[in-house]
Amino acid sequence: MKGRILVTGGTGYIGSHTTVELQSAGYEVIIIDNLSNSNVEVLDGIERISGVRPEFIKGDCTDMDCLKSIFEKYPDIKGIINFAASKAVGESVDKPIMYYRNNLNTLYNLLELMPVYGVKGLVFSSSCTVYGEPDENPVTENSPIKKATSPYGNTKQIAEEVIADFIASGVPVKSTLLRYFNPVGAHPSAEIGELPNGVPNNLVPFLTQAAIGIRKELSVFGNDYDTPDGSCIRDFINVVDLAKAHVCALDRMLENPDCESLEIYNLGTGKGVSVLELINAFEKVNGVKVPYKIVGRRTGDIVKVWGDPSKANRILGWKAEISVEETMRTAWNWQLKLRERGVM
Ligand code: UD1
Repeated sequence: MKGRILVTGGTGYIGSHTTVELQSAGYEVIIIDNLSNSNVEVLDGIERISGVRPEFIKGDCTDMDCLKSIFEKYPDIKGIINFAASKAVGESVDKPIMYYRNNLNTLYNLLELMPVYGVKGLVFSSSCTVYGEPDENPVTENSPIKKATSPYGNTKQIAEEVIADFIASGVPVKSTLLRYFNPVGAHPSAEIGELPNGVPNNLVPFLTQAAIGIRKELSVFGNDYDTPDGSCIRDFINVVDLAKAHVCALDRMLENPDCESLEIYNLGTGKGVSVLELINAFEKVNGVKVPYKIVGRRTGDIVKVWGDPSKANRILGWKAEISVEETMRTAWNWQLKLRERGVM
């Protein structure tokens, strides 16, 4: 065993895939999740893949007493991966205080408790949203941070600054900020995947739901952008690839003395793919038509952003390996599995 890791938000989309990778790398995982955007059956999926059921606490990370009780019960927690956060851009515009309270209080609580309970490292889920609309692509970790376009995005920027200030205060804690591009797809076993509550905001869950007939059609938000086919461009990264990067980051933070007290990495593929190209890739690899129509632009959308992952490639020894086609296959298999199970 490599040690015990607390994964906040571990039944969520990225958290569940990361839990599987941590377990297969020899870590013991404890999940805390309030199940606000996930459900407890995810634990069954994790167990079916890895053969190990992670310890699960239904709780909220904004609840300091709940967190304390976990650290009291497991005094050997070595590291934390903090996924627990609200992430719907539109909702954050309508309910900013809820977003600031949830995303930031969670972080304050964890940071405050880490030195008290001797927790050595925190991996934080950040986002390429911090780069806003970049002047140049691909973005590197040194590309300018732009003013956030939503309260959600702002919580990520503020969180990065809070962590940096905390580390600079000289606490015996390290932190790695991981800036994700657009995580998509599902575990190849189709045992876990993305399952948002209600109508999906993000592209791929909406696309697969439209393809299977749960939604009438996918709305493509704009085809008149300054891009080769007029649709927005993103860096779609396979969620299992992304999950593996967390293991590399944690290994380095906990084991490698060369690891700085604060490190930042872009987690992307290095390649931009347009919304229309993604739809085509899905249709081609799965032999399924996606009903879609072009509609107006979505307010606040970034036109094009993709990441330069060379720092993560070099220092973490990690690289995104799964193609966008293969990723679209896993997304579809996951949607089919949900149908088979009668979930949707
Ligand atoms: C957004 C956030 C990102 C956050 C992610 C997770 C910003 C700028 N981006 O990413 O930080 O981590 O959500 O929630 O804050 N699209 C359609 N039709 C749809 C849905 C999406 O055409 O029904 C298009 C969008 O216009 C966009 C692309 O697909 O061009 C990706 O959208 P989405 O999946 O929502 O992710 P982002 O907006 O890139």
